[in-house]
Amino acid sequence: MIDSVLSDEVQISEPINSRREFLKRSGLVLGALTLSAGLVLANDDGEGEDEGRGGNVAAGKGVIDLGAGSSFKVGSVLDRSKDVGAVISSSANGLIALVPICTHQGCTTGWNAATQSLNCPCHGAQFSTTGEVLRGPTRTPLARYALQLKNGHVLVDTNTLIKRSKIQASDFIKLK
Ligand code: FES
Repeated sequence: MIDSVLSDEVQISEPINSRREFLKRSGLVLGALTLSAGLVLANDDGEGEDEGRGGNVAAGKGVIDLGAGSSFKVGSVLDRSKDVGAVISSSANGLIALVPICTHQGCTTGWNAATQSLNCPCHGAQFSTTGEVLRGPTRTPLARYALQLKNGHVLVDTNTLIKRSKIQASDFIKLK
């Protein structure tokens, strides 16, 4: 890009005959380089980067059997982000499969048992066991995968990612 800006905007073909001419041309080159750097920075402003991060989260693996519904105790959190691409959380609301990709700019959050939250390493966002925002910068809850109970087993559909603007009762499935 720098080459193209230089060739488009600064044509140096004649010999430099004076100190004043040298300084004038140097200023043009410096201006062109500054413009190029500005263009590069403008394209790296962090907006629209939700895709492409969260690389170690397994997703799109189809429907996965998580086991018998009776094995999920209320208050338990199962970190299956590596193999399933979800953190399975059981609360009084029911069971939910959280997609641990931060809703700020797409970094992968990590389950922290000590704080009972999913924490983002990039800019410090924290999410509760229902995916609710505990700390910004984001205000959007974690997305979830569709869950269903079939023949007593919990099935997670990693092909069906559901984005949320708020926590709703329909986000959870009841095990009993
Ligand atoms: S990407 Fe998670 S807080 Fe910014």
